[in-house]
Parts: sequence; C-alpha cells; structure tokens
Amino acid sequence: MRKDRLLTDVLIVGSGGREHAIGWKLSQSKKIGKIFFAPGNGGTINNVEIPVEDIDGLAEFASEKNCLTIVGPEIPLSLGIVDAFTEKGLRIFGPTKAAAQIESSKVWAKNFMKRNNILTAQFEIFDDAKEAKEYAKSIDYSLVVKADGLAAGKGVIVCNNSAEAIDAIDEILTKNRFGSSGSKIILEERIDGEEASFIALSDGNIAIPMATSQDHKRIYDGDKGPNTGGMGAYSPTAIIDDSLAEMIQKDVIEKTINSMKKEGNPFKGFLYAGIMLKYGKPYVLEFNGRMGDPECQPIMMRLDSDLYDYINASIDGTLSKLPAMLWKKQTAICVVLASKGYPGVYQKNEEIFGLDLEDKHSFVFHAGTKRENGKILTYGGRVLGVTALGDTLDSAISNVYSRIEKISWQNKYFRKDIGKKGLLVL
Ligand code: AMP
Ligand code: GLY
Repeated sequence: MRKDRLLTDVLIVGSGGREHAIGWKLSQSKKIGKIFFAPGNGGTINNVEIPVEDIDGLAEFASEKNCLTIVGPEIPLSLGIVDAFTEKGLRIFGPTKAAAQIESSKVWAKNFMKRNNILTAQFEIFDDAKEAKEYAKSIDYSLVVKADGLAAGKGVIVCNNSAEAIDAIDEILTKNRFGSSGSKIILEERIDGEEASFIALSDGNIAIPMATSQDHKRIYDGDKGPNTGGMGAYSPTAIIDDSLAEMIQKDVIEKTINSMKKEGNPFKGFLYAGIMLKYGKPYVLEFNGRMGDPECQPIMMRLDSDLYDYINASIDGTLSKLPAMLWKKQTAICVVLASKGYPGVYQKNEEIFGLDLEDKHSFVFHAGTKRENGKILTYGGRVLGVTALGDTLDSAISNVYSRIEKISWQNKYFRKDIGKKGLLVL
C-alpha cells in the first residue's frame, strides 16, 4: 500500500485569511495529505474554482477526491452545506443549518439566549417601522439596531441617540438596505465596555475553549470610523484573565452547548461568542458558528496541538477523549493590510511587493489576493493578514509592524494601533 493512502486529503471552503490559516496549521499535521481550497486565494495552492455557495459542486468535488471538508465562512453553513454533505455520506466539519441559526438569525439567537438565561443586552424585535420608531423614542438609553439575517458584518448600527436609531430603522425596514436579511430587526440596549472574542470547539456534547483573542472592528486607529470584518487581532488577550475565561466557558459556552443539545439541535464546530465586558460581566453581543477572521490567524499560530485530531473528534462526538489543547506561551498578533477605501470602494489588481522575504517570527496569510502570471495582485478589501509571534505583546507588535514595512502596493492601508489596547491592561 502506498504510504500516502493513510493520509487524509482536505477541502477547505472559503477564500479568506481564516481559511489560509486553517490550511497552514493542518499542513503541519503528519496525518494530512493534499489540501484543496475552494475557491482559495493568491496565497493558497490547489485552488478549485467552485464558489462557496455552490453546495452541489463542492459535494461533487469532495466525493470525487474522497476528502474531509472544513467550512470557513458562514454563508455555506447557513445554506445547509453540512446537512447536504452528511446526507451524501461525506465527512464535513461544522454546524448543521439548524444549529448555524445561532449566527444566521440574530432574532433566533437572542430568543435562544433569553429562554436559556445567557447574559445578553435587553432587546425587542420588530418587523414594523412605525412600531420600532415609537419604541426607539420611548426609551432613555442608547440603542443598537440589528438586521436579523446575515449582512457581511454591516447589519449592525450602533446609535448615539434616538434620531440615529430612527434613521437606522428606516434604512433596514423601510429602504430594505439588507433585503430579506432585514425583514425583522432587533432594537437592543447599547452596552459600553471592552470587547473580546471567545471561541470554543464543540462536538455537540462538550466544548473545549480555544485561546482568547481580541479583534479590532473599526477601520481607523482608536476604534474610529465604520465597522469592518476586522482589522487585526491578537491572542491571548489580557482582558480575559483565567477566572473570567472560566466564567465565560461555564456561563456562556457550556450553557449554549448544553441548551442546544437539550433543545434537539446540537452544535458541532467552532462556536464564537462576541463578548462585551461591563463591570466584569460578560454580555454576549453575538454568536458566530465558525472561526473568527482575523482571530483565527493568531490563534492558529499559537496552537501547538494537531488541529486535525480535534476536528475529527468534533465530527465523531469524541472530544471528551482528547486532552486540552496546547498553546504557545507567546503572543501572536495579526494586522490586516487592506485596500485603501475599504469597507467602501477600493482599487483591485495592484501588484504586491515584498512577500517572499523569509522571517522566522512571522507569516503572511493571504485574503483578498490573486495570483496572475507569477505576480500577486490585490483582489479584495482585506488583502493580507500579517501575523507574528513575540515573547510579549510588545515584542509581537514590533515584529509584526517591522514585517509590514517590507510589504508594499500602491493603495495599502492598515491600522497602526493593533494590540495597543492590550498593553493598557497589562
Ligand atoms: P455583532 O455583529 O452583533 O457582533 O455586532 C457588530 C459590532 O457592533 C460588535 O462587534 C460591537 O462592536 C457592536 N455592538 C453590537 N451589539 C452591541 C451592543 N449591544 N452594545 C454595544 N455595541 C454593540
Ligand atoms: N472578526 C469578526 C468575525 O469574524 O466575525
């Protein structure tokens, strides 16, 4: 028998920095053979031209190659990729369509948290603009207006007063800015605190925590400007100390996994809780049924265990047989290099220079890039996730920014303060 027959080939669905980082980590496993990406990006190899929404096309490919499939982004999960693959007898990692509602419907997630006593901001649900506006005028605290469905991170409007809330209600319910994703809205109490990401891996029965992290969602330094998919992240974050991590694991993650199982809707895959800390209490702002991007990049860089073992155990429901994951003591930080103009309009097809320099502290994960005639070109808003390790947060910051200096293209933009708020806590 050929030795490589014992190895598992993998199909990673998605094209972002998160998918590149998962592939990078899996490529270190001795149990993994070939890794395909659909559709992948300019930094990934073995790219297959199948869009993430083409569930039948992906299933056909996975079946032909006899691959294990790992799903990165939320869209195919919300379309039921896990259900479709499982029906065909294909091995796939991630939540079912019903379980993925924890991310794909904010109304579902808020009602779930309410009935299971998971701490979250107070809220009301509306489908009528007039009623929503009357409610917005009647309350005396600041509101956040949220579209129910998926909106690529843009469906949440944090308001300072009732006039802004009324505009946001009109945008979503009257002008249908997010189409059917905005046919229902949530009006939620604004919680002002420190935000962090807490991600766990579940097999439907138990969940084991990954390393903590903190994202930087706004486009400009000092957390100013519009929200983006995330401009940089670091791990671990001192904002979540060991006792708080235990509290979040017990009161948020375990409660969620147990409640979903009890309700007949077990959750397998990465469960991501977006947490707002206020007066030491963790409020859940949102759940995602997948890894965060860019949180995944520093988390994968710190992971010392074989990710493949944990993904297999999640699928098989055998996580309780595995030890806790091992993490490098070092800090990892990812700074997103974006195209100037993102999250609005930006240029594409600009050549990127300085990618092939060797550096033992860092790795450059690709996101919105493509490879053409031996050149790497920009091809999206978030272009690269430069990720570096350091013995301290301070040294990780200086390692990542010195690597970034060597990378250039015409309209490069990045935040200069990623990780700095972590220094204030230490
Ligand atoms: P979400 O997609 O629900 O996490 O919302 C996107 C971003 O909006 C979050 O990362 C927060 O920065 C902000 N946000 C959401 N809900 C609230 C809230 N209740 N209070 C304050 N900020 C919020
Ligand atoms: N970084 C935020 C997210 O992945 O949703």
